[in-house]
Amino acid sequence: METIRDAGNLSLPAAWRYSGVAVLLHWLLALLIAGMVGLGWYMTAIEDDPGADKYFNLHKSIGIVIFGLVLIRAVWRIGHKPSELPASLPKWEVAMASIIQWLLYGCMILLPVTGFIGALYSKAGIAFFGISLPAWVLPNHDTAEQFFEVHEALAWALVVLVAIHTAAGLKHLLVNRDRVFQRMWF
Ligand code: HEM
Repeated sequence: METIRDAGNLSLPAAWRYSGVAVLLHWLLALLIAGMVGLGWYMTAIEDDPGADKYFNLHKSIGIVIFGLVLIRAVWRIGHKPSELPASLPKWEVAMASIIQWLLYGCMILLPVTGFIGALYSKAGIAFFGISLPAWVLPNHDTAEQFFEVHEALAWALVVLVAIHTAAGLKHLLVNRDRVFQRMWF
């Protein structure tokens, strides 16, 4: 395989990149999740205002869609292992990238799950884009609050992880210029 630093050659070897499906899901989920964190903070700040429930319903509905997309992404990732990072990268950086990525998957799965269970136990329940889901459990305020506390902590963890992950990606794009960023670009 030609070297990644091959000057001037903008076409990257196919094996170097993530597949088109992985790239599409990565950026679609990045946008949706960033929006969801903002919406989550916004709606909880105005939760007693009239009309706040429509933001909660939107958050729950998009959160369920995100969960489905994350599952598809995880299954796709299991079946499509990306190529190794360049040998020039220090070992600690490769290990760190991998740990952060697994933690990101953990947060992306547990965030919707904790939000869903919390919402299931809340009095409001869940309506998926207007369609009420059956109340599988009896409302329980304390249980709902416990799940929401974990949900909130996970959202903070996700924000920190995304910040590290983004800073690392930008370092590769702007400082190292080693085309690692382009692995996950269109
Ligand atoms: C990746 C998906 C999700 C993200 C990034 C996310 C993010 C957030 C954030 C940042 C908050 C505000 C936490 C706070 O400061 O109190 C929040 C609250 C909330 N989320 Fe999510 N969420 C997701 C999925 C879901 C799902 C699937 C549901 C339910 C079906 C849900 C239900 C809720 C509810 C009801 C609250 C308000 C909790 C409270 O009243 O304290 N979320 N979410």
